[in-house]
Amino acid sequence: MNQMNVNIAFIGYGTVAQGFTEIILEKEKKLHELYGLTIKVVAISDIMKGSVYEENGLNMRDILSLVKNGKSLEDYPAGVIGLNSLETITKTNADTILEVSYTDIITGEPALTHIRTALRAGKNVISTNKGPAVKQADQLLKIAKKNKVYYGFEGTVLSGTPALNLAQYALSGIDITEFRGILNGTTNYILARMEEGMPYEEALEKAQKLGYAEADPTGDIEGLDALGKVIILTNVVLRKKIALSDVKRQGITNISMNDIKKAQKQGRKWKLIGRAKIQKDGSVLASVLPEKLPLSDPLANVHEAANALTFITDELGPVTIIGPGAGRRETGFALLIDLINMKNHISFDSHN
Ligand code: HSE
Repeated sequence: MNQMNVNIAFIGYGTVAQGFTEIILEKEKKLHELYGLTIKVVAISDIMKGSVYEENGLNMRDILSLVKNGKSLEDYPAGVIGLNSLETITKTNADTILEVSYTDIITGEPALTHIRTALRAGKNVISTNKGPAVKQADQLLKIAKKNKVYYGFEGTVLSGTPALNLAQYALSGIDITEFRGILNGTTNYILARMEEGMPYEEALEKAQKLGYAEADPTGDIEGLDALGKVIILTNVVLRKKIALSDVKRQGITNISMNDIKKAQKQGRKWKLIGRAKIQKDGSVLASVLPEKLPLSDPLANVHEAANALTFITDELGPVTIIGPGAGRRETGFALLIDLINMKNHISFDSHN
């Protein structure tokens, strides 16, 4: 098996980055023995927590303990401190940038600039950041190809539940013409609580406490987060270009307790469904809307903060994947999927 040494720099060191760090510390031996990966984190730059660079590798147990104790990364006892995100990308010996700074779906920034800069500097990028993938997945993949590096963004859809990998690798050769799914955990969780009689506000507060919601939950409850995922899936899986403004969107804020009770009496459940379908003329019809599903619909039985996605395919008909769509370790794991894919991809390329 080919061995690969990876030097990582984190841009952003929030919960996802910390979840990933825990995973690679726990799986260090397995990653080396089974996947040929030796991972060193050499730099971290976080807008709130500060920045540290140590070319020989940071002790990540010490880093986690600093962060858990609310200390600055700049309290780390060695290395260079104070590099900003772009300096961390371009001026360190990192070969792989994990872009996990905050998401802005509308502009994609500042993550878009981070990713573009890294790819142009010949560095691999792995990111769970939805903004850049929504705005420019296609262009970023082209820049990556041109610079012979890797851009992976599995965690932008369904966190570590491998939705993009399913379509791109496991279902290689199939035609996917349509998808529908529950693409936001926060709203699914809120609807589940409301079905039990919990008022909307309290359910939202709980979803925030459990870490499902975005920093500003407006994007979750108004369907913008799900819309971002519809755009990514349409552009990448259906291979059709659409933008935010092409999609009809409504969140769950208009669904009252009364609506929920009425649906229950009819043997139905409200779910926020994101969908897109290639039409006969080649155009795409996409939406994010609350839909009242019969209990016989598999999506009606996706509980709590789980997500689900059904691809409609030519050879297999519907293929559905269900799993977590948010969370610290769950999203951190998505970075590992991409890292292993990156290693395999680069090893493969080097043999061709
Ligand atoms: N806030 C998102 C959700 C997290 O609730 O699904 C993952 O994008």
